[in-house]
Amino acid sequence: MKDISMHIMDIAQNSITAGAGLLEIIINEDIDNDAYTVIIKDNGKGMPEELLKKVTDPFTTTRTTRRIGLGLPLLKQNVERTGGTFSIESKEGAGTTVEASFVMMHPDRLPIGDIAGTIVLLTSANPELTIIYRHSTNTGDYEYNTTEINSTLDGISITEPSVIRFLKEVIDENLQSIGISR
Ligand SMILES: Nc1ncnc2c1ncn2[C@@H]1O[C@H](COP(=O)(O)OP(=O)(O)O)[C@@H](O)[C@H]1O
Ligand SMILES: [Mg+2]
Repeated sequence: MKDISMHIMDIAQNSITAGAGLLEIIINEDIDNDAYTVIIKDNGKGMPEELLKKVTDPFTTTRTTRRIGLGLPLLKQNVERTGGTFSIESKEGAGTTVEASFVMMHPDRLPIGDIAGTIVLLTSANPELTIIYRHSTNTGDYEYNTTEINSTLDGISITEPSVIRFLKEVIDENLQSIGISR
């Protein structure tokens, strides 16, 4: 995966497959601590402990379990390449939280990519899902919340192409105003 937005899209797909009604995507740029932290949290079905232990190991297969995918191991690898840390917590019936903390200024830290495009694509493809996206830098914070957006739309569908185009512009402008790093 060539940027962080692609990882976010991939990890968010796991949440959607897990039946989440709420998806939170939090990006925290902490220049002082040289940390670029991405948190993806859902209230989906969660994972049994046995699976949780295996999901970040790309080579784990046993006689009785099927091959596990690569989305989580790839993110873990890309984070650890920068000297950062990766963690995943999950509880059956409650949800899952993935936290990836890159060393921000490391040359191998992936660029953010098209995060506004990723957020609106998730929105248009999953209109029933509540999506909260928070992004903070040392100069400010931005929050996107589909429940709040829906309440201002007055019955117009959030999936309308004109709404989606507008939302993408709003996100991009807000991210620019808090000076996100690329
Ligand atoms: N948010 C989540 N909620 C519940 N189960 C999850 C979640 N994320 C991952 N999993 C479980 O971990 C497995 C591995 O995920 P991943 O590495 O993304 O590969 P893939 O999605 O291709 O299977 C998934 O198949 C799923 O069983
Ligand atoms: Mg996956």
